[in-house]
Amino acid sequence: MQIVEPGINHLSHTNPFLKGNFAPVTVETTAFDLPVQGTIPEELEGRLLRIGPNPIQMPQHQQYHWFTGTGMAHGLRLRGGRAEWYRNRFIVDGMNAPILGRPRLPGPENGAGPNVVNTNILGISGRTYATVEAGGLPVELSYTLESVSRSNLAGTLEHGFVAHPKYDPSTGQLHAVSYEPKLETLSYMVVEPNGMARTVAQIPAAHRPMVHDMAFTSKWIVVLDLPVTFDQTIGRGNFPFTWNSDRMPRIGLLPRDGDVRLLRWIEAPSCFVFHVMNAFDSENAVILDVVRHARVFDKWRNGPFEAGTMLMRWRIDLLNGKLTETMLEERNCEFPRFNDAFGGKEYRFGYTASVAADSVNFGPAYKHDVSTGQTEIHDYGPACATLEPVFVARQGSTEEDDGWILSFVYNGERDASDVVILNAKAFSEKPVAIITLPVRVPFGFHGNWVTDAG
Ligand SMILES: [Fe+2]
Repeated sequence: MQIVEPGINHLSHTNPFLKGNFAPVTVETTAFDLPVQGTIPEELEGRLLRIGPNPIQMPQHQQYHWFTGTGMAHGLRLRGGRAEWYRNRFIVDGMNAPILGRPRLPGPENGAGPNVVNTNILGISGRTYATVEAGGLPVELSYTLESVSRSNLAGTLEHGFVAHPKYDPSTGQLHAVSYEPKLETLSYMVVEPNGMARTVAQIPAAHRPMVHDMAFTSKWIVVLDLPVTFDQTIGRGNFPFTWNSDRMPRIGLLPRDGDVRLLRWIEAPSCFVFHVMNAFDSENAVILDVVRHARVFDKWRNGPFEAGTMLMRWRIDLLNGKLTETMLEERNCEFPRFNDAFGGKEYRFGYTASVAADSVNFGPAYKHDVSTGQTEIHDYGPACATLEPVFVARQGSTEEDDGWILSFVYNGERDASDVVILNAKAFSEKPVAIITLPVRVPFGFHGNWVTDAG
């Protein structure tokens, strides 16, 4: 199997995570009644939200790590076939509040203090939250993306939260596995549909791994324990997680009731996985579709694309305890999504953003048929690059791919972004609608479609 190694070009010289469309924007913009080509489906009533790092002061190029920049939220409000507004707003934290001339956010703080929050943005029980991993508390945002307060979900978060709470369509819960460098345990927690969290299990992890994502099936909570760990010898101000070749990569299968006595560890290939697309139970096996990075945070300390990525299917045989893998897509890709109604269940379609093989850049979107291994491409045009493609099901749909793909797409020719809506069933064809934004939305992390019902 060929692992695509990027040229040394982007590992040396200037930091690519501060250039081009990775560069931060400096202004908070509010724009109304945005121009639309095509037709926005009338039933799309809500907000397409996104978040990513956006350093408020230009950091030192050599030192800056993409994961550490001040958070900025972006939102596009759709209603009645119109693009009513676009807004971007800094997520207020302890560092940027004085620079922005804004007061310190009210609300609880835990040991992580008023840390940067930059990784995901989602609706929970009718409220909007920006979230982060590694011990930080979420920031609750107003409908129009102003930072309102720190939140520990009404006192129910014992420690910090996570980047990737996973929606379980069978129960309406969110599942999450959190970590915190100062703790020697991982926490499996559930957020109930009423927005209250409950810690279900504490998993020993004295080596303090970075655990960015998790997965669940109808029987298991899937824990990723891969060889990136906290290194307290790294100097203050530098990204503190590093590749740790001393660690055996492993996947934990925890029964959904959280009985840690029955936690089972399975050896995994040497790699790092930021994102699981989906997982489900099969006969005597657990299936896990992952974006597998050959290596991260080893030689390169600025971001995650040190080596190639591939979309892989991992099959964990519950009888012999072995993990085997098959490739679903060899071209570099990241930010996998799917129809959330199929979370934890056998499914067929996933969607990713392509990643350039020889530089840190994005490009077309992919639609993966994981049952056949075939991939469709949507090319947004010259100098265009999509961010995470978000699937939104059509109301009343019965087919898995009956819905739309919404994403923020950077258009390098006009150095600004569009929101592009695709018909997921006609993925390669002309977009259903293109909404022209007046500004750039920098390459960042994650987003979600949040209906007005929450
Ligand atoms: Fe992520």
